This record gives sequence, C-alpha cells and structure tokens, in this order.
Amino acid sequence: MRLRKMLPRKVRKVLKDIEVSGDKESLPQHPGPHYRKVLRALFETGRYDTYLEIGTSTGGTLVQATGRVIAIDPAFGMKRNVMPGKSVLHAFQTTSDAFFETEDPIALMKGSTMDLAFLDGMHLFEFLLRDFINTEKVCAPGSLILMHDCLPLNRLMAQRQMSGGEPRVDRYYGWWTGDVWKILPILAEHRPDLKVACLDAPPTGLVAISGLDPTSTVLQERYEEIVARYTDEALDTPGVAQLHARFRARPAGEALADLGHPIGAC
Ligand SMILES: C[S@@+](CC[C@H](N)C(=O)[O-])C[C@H]1O[C@@H](n2cnc3c(N)ncnc32)[C@H](O)[C@@H]1O
Repeated sequence: MRLRKMLPRKVRKVLKDIEVSGDKESLPQHPGPHYRKVLRALFETGRYDTYLEIGTSTGGTLVQATGRVIAIDPAFGMKRNVMPGKSVLHAFQTTSDAFFETEDPIALMKGSTMDLAFLDGMHLFEFLLRDFINTEKVCAPGSLILMHDCLPLNRLMAQRQMSGGEPRVDRYYGWWTGDVWKILPILAEHRPDLKVACLDAPPTGLVAISGLDPTSTVLQERYEEIVARYTDEALDTPGVAQLHARFRARPAGEALADLGHPIGAC
C-alpha cells in the first residue's frame, strides 16, 4: 500500500479502474497443494504402473510419472529429461482424437488397462468430453482419471477463446482454462454412476473420477445433444460462484481417499 502511495496519481487511478472493472470478479486462489504435487503424491504410492497423459507441453506433469507411460501432444516442448522413474515412454506427437483413432493404448501397454490418466489437452469442453469418453474405455473400474482446469477463478479465463475474446484486466491475466468446466454439470447429469471429486489444487483445480465403467456408451450416444446444449453457455460472475458452490473443491488427500485412491502428505 505504501508503494502505491508513491506512484503518480494518474497511475493510481488506472490501477483502481482495473480493480473495479476486473479484479473484484475473481475468486481467491485454491488453498491446497499444486496439482503437480498431487500427481507426484499419487505416483509415490507405487499403485500406478500404467499412465496416460493428454497434453504434455514442456513435461511438467510427465516428469512426475513413473512406470509405463503414454504421452500425447500435437506440439511437445519438453525442456528436461522426463525419463527418470519410467521403464517405457510412448510419446505420440498428434492430437488425442488422432491418437485414439489409430492406436490401441491397451496393446501398447501389453494388455494392461490404464491405472491413472491425466487429461490436460485442448481446453474446450467438447475435446475434454471426447478425451474422457476415449480414456474411460481403456481404464479399469478402479482406475483414476484426473482432469485439469475445470474450476476457473473468474469468467474471463473461462471464455472459449484463448485470445481475442473479451478484453482482460483481471488479476489472473493470461490464465486460460477455456470452458472445460462444463464437464462437471455434464457428468453430473449424464453419468451419475461415476464418483467425481473436485480438489482444491492451484491454479484452477483438479477433478478426480473413479468408479469408471469402460463399457458405458451413454456419453458417446448423447455426444451431439450435449455439445448442442452446452456450446453457447458462458459463465458470468455469479455463474462462477455458483459453479464453485455446486462443485465444492475439497482437500486433495481427503477427496482422493474417499475415491479409494489415498495419497501421503503433499
Ligand atoms: C496446458 S498444456 C499441458 C501442460 C502439462 N500437462 C503440465 O501440466 O505441465 C496443454 C497442452 O495440450 C496440447 N494440446 C492442444 N490440443 C490438443 C489436442 N487436441 N490433443 C492433445 N493435446 C493437445 C497443447 O499442445 C499443450 O501442450
């Protein structure tokens, strides 16, 4: 505050305008451990031998994984050695849709289903929905699927456009979750059989899903209907708060234990 008083009046006014127009709409950051720490804690349990990751980028999550791994990204940008702890790494530089069209993950894993999957590819809900449909098919009922970015902290980061949408002046300027938050109401409505938990992992939450049914065709059959219903839906400011109230984020350890996937401290 003292520093602000040292700024010229004009600059102070601009900062105030920014706060009024954007920052007050933002929710505070999630209080729990960072999502990559949660992922590391899962691997540290030693329960997960096969892992599928959609969206790898520079390898910040891939590096946490141990055992046998499949990674998919149309534009890998790995900046480090991601091999420690891994016996096998299949890296597919393509989209997740193209991967599932041409590859058989269970065959790649010599007949094993995926123990753990992390879905962090294209941040549009119809892409995440397809990624979930395709991933569930190659999991076992007791596997765990994690999804990133489904609990945005304001409406601006949840626009469908990564850039070129509504101009931004919020404190999370540059963050983009897209509209993958829609997967939460979609699963609640169409797949009430799943066990879904929201974790308070910064920056924008983790969704953990267990109780999977690899034989389910419900989402596939209703795909067009779901996409038509949700594409134009947008979050306004009360909408963000309502989303968080309906899908309350919980401490990761507690929520994962309830899903049958306990972790140690992280
Ligand atoms: C947010 S980054 C992933 C970050 C990484 N999981 C981590 O936490 O460090 C999203 C990645 O998804 C990739 N991506 C975009 N469209 C995709 C698609 N259709 N299929 C798979 N990956 C996609 C992008 O190339 C980008 O590298």
